[in-house]
Amino acid sequence: MEKIVILTGAGISAESGLGTFRDAGGLWAQYPIEDVATPEGFARDPGLVHAFYNARRIQAAKAEPNAAHTALARLQRDWPGDVVIVTQNVDSLHEAGGAEGVLHMHGILSGALCAACGHRWQSPPEMNVGELCPSCQSPSARPDIVWFGEMPYDMDTIYDHLAEARIFAAIGTSGQVYPAAAFVHEAIAAGARTVELNLEPSAGVSSFDETAFGLATQIVPRWVDGMLGQR
Ligand code: APR
Ligand code: ZN
Repeated sequence: MEKIVILTGAGISAESGLGTFRDAGGLWAQYPIEDVATPEGFARDPGLVHAFYNARRIQAAKAEPNAAHTALARLQRDWPGDVVIVTQNVDSLHEAGGAEGVLHMHGILSGALCAACGHRWQSPPEMNVGELCPSCQSPSARPDIVWFGEMPYDMDTIYDHLAEARIFAAIGTSGQVYPAAAFVHEAIAAGARTVELNLEPSAGVSSFDETAFGLATQIVPRWVDGMLGQR
């Protein structure tokens, strides 16, 4: 049965109260990317970076999944083929909404990583400078987030899924950050039908066969109903 690969971005969590990056007043309007989302920024001022992610971790922990998250979980459950969710988001709202096997290509707020030995563990709500790694005891704990200039996670797995996609949907992403913004071209090369569901046309809108614009909590459940109606 047809495999569906879905890429989500910050727009799918916007109605759960989590800020997007590039909308008016978005996170990158408030914080310089180079200070809080690069390895150089972390080396320069780890306290500022921890404070940025502590605030987002605490906010994300209070957020609830919305109708778009739960609709994708319903699609995963009821679609007769595989439904793979790849997210650029570092919140856990897809999982909270019932989705499984979500690939977090930019890492996850609830994760901590040791920069010295690569050990990963559940992050405390607040992480501080010099936090010790529970495995090697060195003071090199960092958020398990993929910063600009670092290699996103699970890329081989993601490209394997895209090569088998019959349907590719990009939801709530502005299509401005690579490699995610190029996934639609991989899907097209695999012969997939491509769909963009977003508040407004993304930078890559011309690559999509089908588009629907509006609030994710409205257009995503409607899209899922349509997909399940055509089983
Ligand atoms: N419903 C649907 N779409 C929405 C909504 C909503 N309620 N609100 C905003 N959007 C759309 C915006 O129109 C925009 O196109 O979501 C998109 C959010 O774009 P960005 O803020 O650029 O977020 P994203 O595409 O996820 O950014 C990708 O950039 O900074 C890095 O690592 C960060 O993962 C992030 C990556
Ligand atoms: Zn370690």
